[in-house]
Amino acid sequence: MIISARGARPARTAVLAAVAALAVPLVVAPIAAAPPAAADAPLRVHAAARGKFIGYAASTSPLANEAAYRSVAASEFNQVTAENAMKWDSTEPSDGNYTFAGADQVMAFATANNQQVHGHTLVWHSQTPGWVQGLSASAMRTAMQDHIATVVGRYANNAALVSWDVVNEVFDDNGNMRTSFWYNTLGSSYIADAFRYARAADSNARLCINDYNVEGINAKSTAMYNLVRQLRADGVPVDCVGFQGHLAIQYGFPSQFRENLDRFAALGVQVRITELDVRMQLPRDSTKDATQATYYRNVVQGCLAVTACAGVTIWGFTDKYSWVPDTFSGQGAALPWDANYSTKPAYTAIHDALDDGTSPNPDTTPPTTPGTPVASGVTSSGLSLSWTASSDAVGVTGYDVLRAPGASGGSFAVVGTPSSASFVDSGLAASTTYRYQVRARDAAGNVSSLSSVASVTTTAGGGGPGPSSSCRVAYTISPWGGSPGFTAGVVLTNTGTSSLSGWTLAFTLPSGQAITPPGWSATWSQSGQAVTATPLSWNSTLAPGGSTTIGFNGTHTGGTSEPTTFTVGGSSCTVV
Ligand code: XIL
Repeated sequence: MIISARGARPARTAVLAAVAALAVPLVVAPIAAAPPAAADAPLRVHAAARGKFIGYAASTSPLANEAAYRSVAASEFNQVTAENAMKWDSTEPSDGNYTFAGADQVMAFATANNQQVHGHTLVWHSQTPGWVQGLSASAMRTAMQDHIATVVGRYANNAALVSWDVVNEVFDDNGNMRTSFWYNTLGSSYIADAFRYARAADSNARLCINDYNVEGINAKSTAMYNLVRQLRADGVPVDCVGFQGHLAIQYGFPSQFRENLDRFAALGVQVRITELDVRMQLPRDSTKDATQATYYRNVVQGCLAVTACAGVTIWGFTDKYSWVPDTFSGQGAALPWDANYSTKPAYTAIHDALDDGTSPNPDTTPPTTPGTPVASGVTSSGLSLSWTASSDAVGVTGYDVLRAPGASGGSFAVVGTPSSASFVDSGLAASTTYRYQVRARDAAGNVSSLSSVASVTTTAGGGGPGPSSSCRVAYTISPWGGSPGFTAGVVLTNTGTSSLSGWTLAFTLPSGQAITPPGWSATWSQSGQAVTATPLSWNSTLAPGGSTTIGFNGTHTGGTSEPTTFTVGGSSCTVV
C-alpha cells in the first residue's frame, strides 16, 4: 500500500492509525496522479536505497504483545538488536542451562518482517551471572568457549543472524583495559580467544567489538583502534567495530566523529553505530529537541559518508521503553518517538538525512507475491522447490526461502536466498514434514508478502535415492595467526527419524594435529590420531533434526586440513 501525502508529513502515528482504520481496500481517486510520496516512505526504505541498515533495539515484552510497538518496529526498521534477550544472563542463567525463548522471539519477529539480526552480546562484564564471575581461569575459559559455541551455534545456519558483538566494553574511559572479572582472571587474551571461538561456531557472521565513548577521537577510541589493528595483525577474526553512540546534548557532539569512523575503516573493518540515543536533562523542550535532532542527523550523515559504515541502530525507538531514565538520573526523552509513539524532530532529522536527494524518488513498491512453492525430487534428506516468479516495477533481485519444522507450530527461518525462483534444500531428516514459504525482494529493499505455505514430507531413510546416514557434520577450522594453533567447531545434527541418545562422534585428525584438552560442549579424547567426543548431560539427546555445536582448540605442525570422515555409533555421517 502506498499512502500519498503532499505538503507536511503526517506524524507516523497518524499514518499507522490510518492504516489500522482501513476496513476496505484503498480506492485511489483517478485525479491523484502524483508520484509516490517518496518523502513519506519509512526509514527502512530510504536506508535500503542508500545501502545502509536502520535498526532498533527490541524489548521483548512489547514486541510480544503491544500493537503500536510492533507496528513501528516492523514498518520503520530493517535491522534489529535484542536489547537484553541474547545476553548471558538471559541465555545461560546457570551453568549449561540454556534458555532461548526471548532470543528466538526476536529472531522470529525479525524473520517475519525481513529484518537482519545483530547478536548482542557474548562476552561482557555486565549482565553475566555470578557463577561465571567466580570461576577459576581454566573453568572460566571453558565456560566462555561453551557459551559462545552454543549461543552462536544455535543461529549459525539462520540467514537472519548476520553479526555478533563478541566482546563488549573492554576499555576504561582513559584507554586502559577495563579490570573486569574477565581481564582479572584471564588477562587480555580472553578477547582474541572469544573471537576465535565465535568464528569456529559461525564462519559467516560478522564479528564485532563494541564500546561507548569511542565515537570521537579520544584516548579510549585510540586504545580501541590500536587493539583492533593488533588483533587483525595477529590473524584474530575481528570484522567490525561498533560505536554505541549513547550521546547526551549537554556533553556536546563527539569531536571528529567522521574522521574517527574513517580511521577504523582504513583498518579494513566494517563500522556501525550500534546503540544510538541522545538524552537530555528533563524536562524536554523544543530547543533541546532541536539540538537532539542535529545529533541524530550528524550520526546518520556520518555513517552515510563512510562506505565501510553498515548502518545505524537506535537503542529502542520510543521513550516508553528507553533505558535512559533508569540509568541516568534526571535525564530522558532520548529517542525519536515519544512515549505515545508520536515522532519528534529527531525522527524527521533521521528521515531527511537518509532521504537527502541522492535517491529522490525511491522505489517503494514491493514485488508481487510469489506463487506457492512446489516440491519435486523429494528424498529422505532433500528436495527441490520452484515457484511462480514475482514481478516488480524495477526488477526482482532475489527470494527468501523460509522453512519451519513440522506440519504446524515451530517458527520459520530463512534457509536460502536464491536469485531466481527455485531452491534446493538439503540436510533434512527422513520421514519428516517441513513447511516452506517464499517472498521476493527488489534492489530498493522492498519485500513482497509471503507466499502460501507448502508442506512437504521427506521419504523414509534407507533404500531411497538420498543419502541414508542419520547424522550430519559441519566442521570448521580456524587457524590462529602467528602461532601453530587452531580452533575447531563441529555442528552435529541428527538427520534420522528417532532421537539420538548418548552418541559418540569419532573421526581421525590429519597427522600433525592434536587436541589441546579439554575442548567444550563434549568430553574429548585423542588416541594416536583417533578422536572421540561424547556428550555432556545437556546435549546427550538430539531430537530428529536437532543439532549441537561442540569444539576444541588444537595444535598443528603446519597443516590445517580437515578430517574427511565422521561416524556416530560406527555409521558414517554426511559431511557438509
Ligand atoms: C542496557 C539495556 O538497555 C537495559 O535494559 C539493561 O537493563 C542494561 O543494559 N551498553 C550496552 C547495552 O552494550 O547492552 C546496554 O543495554 C546499554 C549500554
